[in-house]
Amino acid sequence: KKKIAVMTSGGDSPGMNSVVRAVVRTAIHFGCDPYCVYDGYEGLVQGGHMIKRFHWQDVRNWLSQGGTLIGTQRCASFFERSGRMIAAKNMVLNGIDALIICGGDGSLTGADKFRSEWPSLLQELVASNELTEQQVAPYQHLNIVGMVGSIDNDMSGTDVTIGCYSALDRICQMVDYIEATATSHARAFVIEVMGRHCGWLALMAGVATGADFIFIPEKPRQDDWREEMCNLVKCHRDLGKRKTIVIMAEGAHDRQGNKISSEMVKDILADKDGLALDTRITTLGHVQRGGSAVAYDRVLGTLQGVEAVRAVLEATPETETCFIAITENQIVRRPLMKAVLDTKEVAKAVRAQDFERAMALRDTEFAE
Ligand code: F6P
Repeated sequence: KKKIAVMTSGGDSPGMNSVVRAVVRTAIHFGCDPYCVYDGYEGLVQGGHMIKRFHWQDVRNWLSQGGTLIGTQRCASFFERSGRMIAAKNMVLNGIDALIICGGDGSLTGADKFRSEWPSLLQELVASNELTEQQVAPYQHLNIVGMVGSIDNDMSGTDVTIGCYSALDRICQMVDYIEATATSHARAFVIEVMGRHCGWLALMAGVATGADFIFIPEKPRQDDWREEMCNLVKCHRDLGKRKTIVIMAEGAHDRQGNKISSEMVKDILADKDGLALDTRITTLGHVQRGGSAVAYDRVLGTLQGVEAVRAVLEATPETETCFIAITENQIVRRPLMKAVLDTKEVAKAVRAQDFERAMALRDTEFAE
């Protein structure tokens, strides 16, 4: 019987529990034994009770729960080859021949490295008498399938990452709350949202809440952004608007690459010689990541979890390692390494202020 393990890795994202539930139940449906690895790669390195056989009922009521119930970590030891060796040994000892990993680009890069090193890791384990030839013989090919769980929506090759719509929804709720108090006091609020190097959450939240001004890393403002912002805010105020909302992506910077902080924006809005607005800062923080998943993320996690198990079962030793994406509303398999490399290139292009290239790379549709 094939043993398929699933793990969640990196920052948690709403919808990860739907992924695990779908993988466990689809694996059982196809006659396989599902396993869960607790705390991401850390569990793979620790082995023992961190790798657990799961049954149908073990994932009951998981759809409505936030976070990841099998835990996650940003695991330092897996970055070392010695850590990956122990992980490989634990996989063989548990008889696991396929691994489904739901995480961000860092976790998926680790997955691809693990897969490419796999034959040499096994050789080394045999050479150092950690495992015998007979033990490793059935596990010559490591079958890995990636799934993208991240609130940032920062992965190339897929339109959406699991969790981003839940985070966006949470941000909108929070902005709605803030708007009530902002309007009452005729105040301005600078609201900082997550996203790391990606401005998707800030941009979409700005559109969804009708914010006055936004800052995102992909399109740094011109040098005169202070005047631009103040003119726009004044124009809105002149039209009778009693509140001002500015949404800041946490990775926002100017054209010179200097960080634009919420404090800087607040000081400009509050400047006594300018708009002199009573201004507050709200950094939303981890409320964006916690809480239950919206329907979209539950459905996405479920459909992609099913597809991930199918991909595992259909893989041959020649199959390129894939991840499960959604493009144009279709659940599809895409080459993992290309997406990981494109994602890194996007970050590089943003740093180099080559925004056209960044946008083109992010939208790469794997044109054949
Ligand atoms: O990648 C997801 C994310 O939530 C980013 O938006 C944010 O920058 C980072 O993780 C926060 O990480 P931590 O939870 O380790 O503080």
